Amino acid sequence: MGKFVISVMEGDGIGPEIVKEGLKALEEVAKRFKHTFEYKYVYVGGCSIDRFGVPLTQETIDTILSTDALFFGSVGGPKWENLPHHLKPEAGLLGIRKALGAFANLRPAKVFRELINTSTLKKEVIEGIDLLVVRELTGGIYFGEPRGFSEDKKKAFNTMVYTNEEVRRIAKLAFDIARQRRKKLTSVDKANVLEVSQFWRNIVIEVSKDYPDVELNHMYVDNAAMQLVRNPKQFDVIVTGNIFGDILSDEASMLTGSIGMLASASVGGKVGLFEPIHGSAPDIAGLGVANPIAQIESLAMLLKYGLKLHKEAKCVEDAVALVLKMGYRTQDIATNSDKKVNTTQMGDLIAKAVSEV
Ligand code: NAD
Ligand code: IPM
Ligand code: MN
Repeated sequence: MGKFVISVMEGDGIGPEIVKEGLKALEEVAKRFKHTFEYKYVYVGGCSIDRFGVPLTQETIDTILSTDALFFGSVGGPKWENLPHHLKPEAGLLGIRKALGAFANLRPAKVFRELINTSTLKKEVIEGIDLLVVRELTGGIYFGEPRGFSEDKKKAFNTMVYTNEEVRRIAKLAFDIARQRRKKLTSVDKANVLEVSQFWRNIVIEVSKDYPDVELNHMYVDNAAMQLVRNPKQFDVIVTGNIFGDILSDEASMLTGSIGMLASASVGGKVGLFEPIHGSAPDIAGLGVANPIAQIESLAMLLKYGLKLHKEAKCVEDAVALVLKMGYRTQDIATNSDKKVNTTQMGDLIAKAVSEV
C-alpha cells in the first residue's frame, strides 16, 4: 500500500492515445495492489512548444524532479520539423534525459510465442530470443560540441565525444545487468575507424576485469546490425553508444514483430523516464490503430525500475501476455486469423487482464 506521484507526459502524435491506455492499466494496478497514484501532467516536445514556445521549460523539469517517475509518450511531428534544432520537439526529449541524468537506456527485445509468425524473419531465427540493448543516453554525438553549421552554410558538423567516466559507468551498469542474466555482454562500436570507439573499447576491457564471470565480446556496429537479423539468439546484453543504440534497438524491435512492442527505461538519475522506443507515428495518429503495448510495457518497467514494485510489474507483463495469448491484435501485429482490435480495445483488454491474472 504505497503512495506514488507520477509525472505523465502524453506528447504528440499517437502519444496521448497510448499513454491513456497505459494509465488504464496503472489504475487497475492501484485497485488490485491498493496503491495510490497521483498524476502530474507535464508537457515536453511539440505540445510544450504549442503552449510555452519552447520544447522544455525549467518548470517542467522541476515538476518531474519532484515526482517518483516519468511516464512518457512520444514527441515530434511534421508541424515542428522545420524549427531550428534547439527548438525542435526532439530537443525537449534530449533535454529532459540530460536533466534527469538518465544515462542508461534499457531496451529489452523478447519474442512472445504468440507473435512468432508476425515477424518478417523466419520462426527458427527469432524463437526464444531475449536480448537487451543498453544504450548510453546522455553523451556521444547527440550531445558533443562543437556542432552546427558553418557561417557560410557550406558545412555542417557534429562531434562524437565520450569521457572516461561516461563509458565506465555505462559499462559497469551493463556488466551488472549481464551478470544477472545469461552472463554474456557484447560491446558494439566502430573501433576500426573512430578514435572515440577505440577509447570506448579500451575502457570496456578495463571494466571487464572486475567481471571475470561475464563473457565479453566486441563487435563493429555494421557487423552487429547484420548479426541481429542473421542470428539474434547469439545476443544477451548489448552495450553501445547513443547513436548506435538508437539504430540497433529499432532494428531489434522488428525481431519482436513490431516497433509498437518495444519499451524502454532510462535510468541512472534520481527520477527514471519510461517510454516506448518508437516515435509519435504521425502517419497513424488519430486513427485509433496504434499499438499501446510498448507504452504499457514501459509502464511495467516504470513499476519495476522506477518504483521497485516487482509483483505489480510482473502483473502488467502477464496481462499483456494473456491478451496476446487470447488472440487479440492491433493491426501492426495481426495476421489473418487474429481478433483485430483498435488501440482502446487493446488497452481495455489489458487493463481487465491486470485485475485477473
Ligand atoms: P516512429 O517510430 O514514430 O514511426 C515509424 C513507423 O512505425 C511508422 O510507420 C509508425 O506508424 C510505426 N509505429 C510506431 N509506433 C507504433 C505503434 N505504437 N503502433 C503501430 N505502429 C507504430 O518513427 P518516425 O516516423 O521516424 O518518427 C516520427 C516522429 O517521432 C519524428 O518526429 C521523430 O523525431 C519522433 N520520434 C520520437 C521518439 C520519442 O518520443 N521517444 C522516438 C522516435 C521518433
Ligand atoms: C528514440 C528517438 C530519439 C533518439 C529522438 C526522437 C530524439 O529516436 O528515443 O529512440 O534518437 O534518442
Ligand atoms: Mn530512436
